[in-house]
Amino acid sequence: MKALVLSGGKGTRLRPLTFTIAKQLIPVANRPILGYVLDQVARITRDVGIIIAPETGEYVKEYVMSGEEWGINVTYIPQEPLGLAHAVKTAKEFLGDDSFIMYLGDNLLGDSIEKYAKKFKEENLDALILLKEVEDPRAFGVVVLDEKGNVVKLIEKPKEPPSNLALVGVYFFNKNIHKAIERIKPSWRGELEITDAIQELINMGYKVKAEILESWWLDTGKKDDILTANAIILDEFIRRDVKGEIEDSILEGRVKIEEGAKIVNSKVRGPCIIGKNCIIENSFIGPYTSIGNGSIIRNSSIEYCVIMENSLVEDVNRLEESLIGRNAKVVMKHSKNTLKLNIGDYSIIEI
Ligand code: DAU
Repeated sequence: MKALVLSGGKGTRLRPLTFTIAKQLIPVANRPILGYVLDQVARITRDVGIIIAPETGEYVKEYVMSGEEWGINVTYIPQEPLGLAHAVKTAKEFLGDDSFIMYLGDNLLGDSIEKYAKKFKEENLDALILLKEVEDPRAFGVVVLDEKGNVVKLIEKPKEPPSNLALVGVYFFNKNIHKAIERIKPSWRGELEITDAIQELINMGYKVKAEILESWWLDTGKKDDILTANAIILDEFIRRDVKGEIEDSILEGRVKIEEGAKIVNSKVRGPCIIGKNCIIENSFIGPYTSIGNGSIIRNSSIEYCVIMENSLVEDVNRLEESLIGRNAKVVMKHSKNTLKLNIGDYSIIEI
């Protein structure tokens, strides 16, 4: 089995951050989302194709390189973002006639995917899709099952969803998906939809099954999804681990402080992570916060935030639920209000 990881696309819903970074590289708990995705696929194959887009492909290559960190062999496949099924079509030469897992590079799952790969193989399926019940399925592919659990119908982002079962961005296919893709037309949004291709597989009489995911699942498409993903990952994986220098400060709970970081006259409450060479001075860092390498926080109070590398937050009375890009500066001189920000790389906010 091979893997096809989709790390292209436009990332329009995460602008302005995605003007200068691929959305799959936005960090949660100080690690790019794509890193967690590759952890997952590496559990079932070493043969990994990564779809990249013209604008952000170089950033993805710079991060993943040859794939050594995950023990995988990577083939990069450039694609104009014309839909998920178009990505499969573009990867045809890499995929050949092999079965493959397709994994969207912005999806995070609490569950390991090995058991689904096993089911796909053992039951000799043409496709296996994963589903999750969600409150508002309008932003996803939506699936209708019959009373025996067979997949009857799939619709991409319906205005009036016929069920609350959303398609998770992890799919298993054999070579028959290529035949189905040949038969579909672009959707109303001009994309070749994988949802339509799976519907076509069913119409053609192929064996398509669905499993309902037991764990949490996040499609990190918007700012709030990134903050939620950050909170969940910190909650699940952060253990107390203090490597930096601590001076006149209080560390409470599961706090990870990396090498070279300096915490002076401050209070840090976990779960949270403070990256390498950060300086935290006269500040409060609250739960569910990730501070990227080399950032400086002075005279500020921060909670439930993702602050990326080499940024500065100074004199901010209260910063919460914010996503701050790399090399950004937020300096607040004359206000006592709380700030909630979504700002890209190199921004400067002075209030
Ligand atoms: O996250 C699950 C959802 O993903 C499913 O429920 C939907 O059925 C499915 O269509 C997809 O919807 P999104 O609107 O979230 O897809 P998005 O455009 O965000 O693309 C998903 C990933 O694939 C993202 O990492 C970018 C990448 N991509 C996207 C397109 C359209 C590509 O690599 N190439 C593309 O052409």
